[in-house]
Amino acid sequence: MGLRTLITGGAGFIGSHLADRLLERGGEVLVLDNFATGRRSNLDARPKLSIAEGTIADASFVNEQFQQFRPDIVVHAAASYKDPNAWEEDSETNVLGTVNVVRASLAAEVNRLIYFQTSLCYGLHPVEQPITLAHPIQPAPNSYAISKTAAEQYIAMSGIPFLTFRLANAYGPRNISGPLPTFFHRLTNALPCFVADSRRDFIFVQDLIDVVEKAVEGAGETGAYHISTGTDFSIQELFETTLDALSITLEKPVEVRERGEDDAFTILLDPKTTQRDFSWSPRTSLADGVAAAVDYYQKFGITETYTHLKLQSE
Ligand SMILES: NC(=O)c1ccc[n+]([C@@H]2O[C@H](COP(=O)([O-])OP(=O)(O)OC[C@H]3O[C@@H](n4cnc5c(N)ncnc54)[C@H](O)[C@@H]3O)[C@@H](O)[C@H]2O)c1
Repeated sequence: MGLRTLITGGAGFIGSHLADRLLERGGEVLVLDNFATGRRSNLDARPKLSIAEGTIADASFVNEQFQQFRPDIVVHAAASYKDPNAWEEDSETNVLGTVNVVRASLAAEVNRLIYFQTSLCYGLHPVEQPITLAHPIQPAPNSYAISKTAAEQYIAMSGIPFLTFRLANAYGPRNISGPLPTFFHRLTNALPCFVADSRRDFIFVQDLIDVVEKAVEGAGETGAYHISTGTDFSIQELFETTLDALSITLEKPVEVRERGEDDAFTILLDPKTTQRDFSWSPRTSLADGVAAAVDYYQKFGITETYTHLKLQSE
């Protein structure tokens, strides 16, 4: 596969795994990243990989990179989410940045733009479980979800051939946001832990990349898809799986706390149309996926973790 793929946010968790996969398949990759949450160490130097440092909120930077690289496919993975009160940063990166990427993609006549949307677009109180693609969109009251949803709507309005993947909670090596890296950090530093009384559908990153790779190669129809397992686990189960991976036994059960008011009880996405159109099903168990993530944290450490939720006091 000799495709030229431009990946915004390609130094991040999902973007870097996709870059690895496409490079392994013989493709050429250009990463645009400002390293806000991405890590340079996520991308080993390779002959067909280029990295341009800059923000997608800067239209001239984006246009210049598109004109030089002339991508066939754009995978737009850059996003801002790390501070729930940073509305300006969320709007600049997620809304304005996306508009810049869409306009540059139209000008470069790319074959397809692939976007990743948060399942928080369905709101904190989904009206069905599992959530189907017909579920109403209700991103408030979350700045990340509001700005990601505006971006998704600009993409759909632009007329560009696109796929938007609404994702379950992705986890695995290089993931530094969400509960798993936090559990690892606290457990390995003998700090007290608690879990929220909520449930999530966890998708292992390589299973997710299997779908995205097929989308880069042309599978799927313009529009929205879910990437999810269709099964949810409690955060407590995730915590206990992390304990198993670390071979830790606690003296007393972990404290379960009421979730914050910006947290949803469960978000379970229906993956049926993805399974059908991409001939795909996830292959990694929670235990195997958590073990792979823990192995990564043990080798590379965690310096920072991020969440788009308002943090509860410790
Ligand atoms: N991880 C998940 O569970 C999940 C779920 C739903 C949606 N998503 C979406 O998937 C995409 C990838 O997320 P991720 O988990 O890999 O997060 P990540 O933080 O690892 O990756 C995001 C990347 O974007 C870069 N970035 C941020 N602002 C930028 C800017 N202004 N210009 C250029 N680069 C910028 C960051 O440095 C980082 O490398 C995001 O669009 C996110 O909204 C992720």
